[in-house]
Amino acid sequence: MPEEPTDDTAAADGDQGARMVAAMAGVYGDHPDHRAAHATGVGAAGTFTATPEAAALSRAAHLQGSPVDAVVRLSNGTGTPGVADGVRDGRGLAVKLRLPDGTSTDLVGLSLPAFFVRTPADFLALMAARTPDPATGAPDDAAIGAFVAEHPESLTALGAAMAALPPASYATVRYFGVHTFVAVDAEGRRTPFRYRWEPDAGEATLTDDEAQARPPRYLADELAERLAAGPASFTLWFHLAGDDDPLHDPTAVWPDDRPAVAVGHLELTRTASAAEVDPLIFDPTRVVDGIACSDDPILAARSAAYGASYARRSG
Ligand code: HEM
Repeated sequence: MPEEPTDDTAAADGDQGARMVAAMAGVYGDHPDHRAAHATGVGAAGTFTATPEAAALSRAAHLQGSPVDAVVRLSNGTGTPGVADGVRDGRGLAVKLRLPDGTSTDLVGLSLPAFFVRTPADFLALMAARTPDPATGAPDDAAIGAFVAEHPESLTALGAAMAALPPASYATVRYFGVHTFVAVDAEGRRTPFRYRWEPDAGEATLTDDEAQARPPRYLADELAERLAAGPASFTLWFHLAGDDDPLHDPTAVWPDDRPAVAVGHLELTRTASAAEVDPLIFDPTRVVDGIACSDDPILAARSAAYGASYARRSG
């Protein structure tokens, strides 16, 4: 069954969402049958089980300790389908947890600790700067340089993206939720946090030469082989905000010494077909009672963009 956009946010901000998707098509090319970003990916499925510590932070249904079904999509960041897995790129882990009451909640992580921009307007400006020169088809280095000069906050994510070697496996990548969310416990106490998936297999990368010598879909192939041999797993950590940590700025990384609580384990046991994951929208604002979104303007903008991309690809 195709999925519907999360809520009326998508309708209310539909124009902005459509503008963002059109801007991404300017950068990646127009591929209406694919996701506007993270066009290439593979599905997997398994179970998420919360730790006993999770329920003390949040009353959310998936954090009480009973295993819940999980369907996930692991992806490459580019919106251009057909780019080989061996290039340097952000990677995504999108997780949908199916709750006993028939609803679901999504956690959408990226292999970068920060995002490139703070606001939807800056996102559109970055996409405009990254749009290739129509005369040459080449990137417009001057426009990108001018954007970065005006937006030094984008350097954290840009630097991390440029430095990240291709992964050995989708199962050896750390995935960051990037935004701040708020955990709400049974008494209504609120704890701002950011989430992170740590691969239980540890991080592992390839050199550029090794990655480019692999088959074009080596990450999908490797995941299928790995799952045929046994589960692949990740631990979900909540990193708790310090008093002065920015709660609305996804370009700013929090210091490493913040308290972190392991709240659950994701065990992937099988691949999931395109027919299972393509009709899904993984939307980080699809939260349930016990988890709230922060006022991060990028987080708020995502639902409409994902809805617009979904409308386009489901045609
Ligand atoms: C304004 C900022 C952003 C815009 C406009 C945007 C836009 C999009 C769009 C249009 C899609 C395809 C959705 C679909 O067709 O289902 C997508 C997918 C994705 N985005 Fe973003 N995105 C933004 C920020 C982020 C951030 C901050 C993260 C970091 C966690 C992120 C991670 C992902 C991932 C992992 C996917 C793939 C989801 C899947 O497999 O279905 N995005 N994004």
